[in-house]
Amino acid sequence: MDGLTVVRGRVPVLSDLTCAMFPGRVTGLLGPSGAGKTTLMRAIVGTQKFAGGRVTVLGETAGSASLRRRIGYVTQAPSIYRDVSVLDNLRYFARVIGAPTSRISEVVAAVGLEGYERRLAGSLSGGQTSRVSLACALVGSPDVLVLDEPTVGQDPVLREELWDRLRARAAGGACVLVSSHVMDEAERCDDILLLRDGALLAAGTPHEIRSRAGAENLDAAFLALIREESDGARAPDGSRSDERGAR
Ligand SMILES: Nc1ncnc2c1ncn2[C@@H]1O[C@H](COP(=O)(O)OP(=O)(O)OP(=O)(O)O)[C@@H](O)[C@H]1O
Ligand SMILES: [Mg+2]
Repeated sequence: MDGLTVVRGRVPVLSDLTCAMFPGRVTGLLGPSGAGKTTLMRAIVGTQKFAGGRVTVLGETAGSASLRRRIGYVTQAPSIYRDVSVLDNLRYFARVIGAPTSRISEVVAAVGLEGYERRLAGSLSGGQTSRVSLACALVGSPDVLVLDEPTVGQDPVLREELWDRLRARAAGGACVLVSSHVMDEAERCDDILLLRDGALLAAGTPHEIRSRAGAENLDAAFLALIREESDGARAPDGSRSDERGAR
């Protein structure tokens, strides 16, 4: 993305953001609540209007119809149909995306939901629900996988499995973008984008970010970088809202 600027509700939410995410790597999108992580993801998947800049995904303008089958997006709030079974959710998304039905059992196993296929999606726990959402995003074997806080509500074992799965997707050539505000998760990423108040505070590998900040862990590095940048105030601007309202 090049110079991405997004205004939501008359307030600038992302300001002149330039960064890149690469295939074969897991990129962690880190930053405090309200930093703009979800907004940035929405710009990539094509559900966010922007006031300025360009976003290119797999060589195409973000939001192009041809990208829809190539991007998997797990929204922050799980977006599945609660009034039908887990299996029917997966059948539906597989049909929409043109994936073979054989993919369904693969993704069910991949997210550890064997035995839950016939359960009503609305009867599952929070962590199980978000795994159904993840399975729906994986069913099309996307080249770009965008996951908004996928580890919230997952226990340590499931989190570990999820990270293994994401690493495997990246090893298979996918571009994986994961948001989190848990710094210990950032250590698991190949690359990190650190967002704060809609601006990019730092970008690089965990090692690069730690050494740039002279800190021994990413938590300390983040705090040091915030202090360093604290005089870089953003220009207030908010003439119009570019919120499109799509999820
Ligand atoms: N629909 C909206 N209308 C107006 N402002 C919005 C809207 N959605 C988000 N915002 C604002 O945009 C900013 C960035 O929000 P965003 O959801 O991208 O943050 P985030 O980094 O994902 O936060 P969190 O970690 O809490 O999910 C916040 O200040 C938020 O209040
Ligand atoms: Mg968010």
